[in-house]
Amino acid sequence: MKVTALDPNPYIRPTNTPLTVIAHRGASSLAPENTMFAQETARRSGADFIENDVQLSKDGVPYLLHDSTVDRTTDGTGDITTLTAAQLDTLDAGSWFSPLYTGARIPTLATQLADLRTRGGNLLLEIKRADTKNDVAAMIDVVRAHNMTDRVIMQSFDTRHLRWVHDLAPELPLGLLRSTLDTDPVAIAEDLHLTTYNPNGNALDTTPGIVADLHAAGIAVMAWTADTPAKWNRYDNYGVDGIITNRPAELTGWNWARNGSTP
Ligand code: G3P
Ligand code: CA
Repeated sequence: MKVTALDPNPYIRPTNTPLTVIAHRGASSLAPENTMFAQETARRSGADFIENDVQLSKDGVPYLLHDSTVDRTTDGTGDITTLTAAQLDTLDAGSWFSPLYTGARIPTLATQLADLRTRGGNLLLEIKRADTKNDVAAMIDVVRAHNMTDRVIMQSFDTRHLRWVHDLAPELPLGLLRSTLDTDPVAIAEDLHLTTYNPNGNALDTTPGIVADLHAAGIAVMAWTADTPAKWNRYDNYGVDGIITNRPAELTGWNWARNGSTP
C-alpha cells in the first residue's frame, strides 16, 4: 500500500514564532466594524488577517454586516434581507461610531476583496447567514472572481455552511466557530474537512489540551475574541495559532515583544 503524506497545514505556527493576528470585524476598537476604514486600520496595525461577517442583500449581493438588521451600525433600519443593494449603498455605516467616519458605507464582499487583493491582506470570512446552498454559492462566486481563494478562510458556526462550501469549493480552507467545545473536536474537524477549529477563548480555558490534539491531527486553532495581554499570554501558552481580537495594533506589538523582536 502506498502511503501519501498529507500537506502540512500552513496555518499551524511553528514553535516560538508569532501568533497570527486576526482583526475582528476589522480594527473594530478604532473604526466602525466591517467597514473599509476598519480594514485599512487593521492593515496598518499589522494584522495578518481581517475577520468579517457576510450576508446577502434582498437581491443576492454579499455584503459585510454582523447583525441581521442594519439598525445598530447604520442610519437605516430593517433586516438586510429586506433591503436591496441599491438601498444598502445609501446607508451611512460610520457616524454611529464617530462623526469622523460619516459617509462610510457597508462594503460589498467584492469591494472588500478588491481592496485586499490590491493593497494586501488575508480574509477570515464568517458566513453569518445563508439559508441555502445557493446563498453560499453567491459568496464563493465573488471570492473566485477576485482570484482570492488562496487568501481566504471561510468560517461559520453553522456546520451546514461548511459542508456547502466544501461541496462547492473544496479548495477553500474551512474554520468551525464554537462557543463551547465539542466532545471530540478532532472528530468533527475531520468530518467537516476543517483547516482550523476556532473556539471561544473562555471555552478553550476549560480544556486547553484540545490544541495539542488538533495539531496532532493537522488542524490549526484560532481563538476568539481576546483583547487583553493576560488572555493573549494564556492562549499563546496553550499553543493556539491565531487570536481574533478587536485590538490588532496592540496584539501586533505584544506579539513582537513576546518573540524578542526589537524595533
Ligand atoms: O470570529 C469570531 C467571532 O467573530 C464570532 O462572533 O458574533 O463577533 O461574529 P461574532
Ligand atoms: Ca464574526
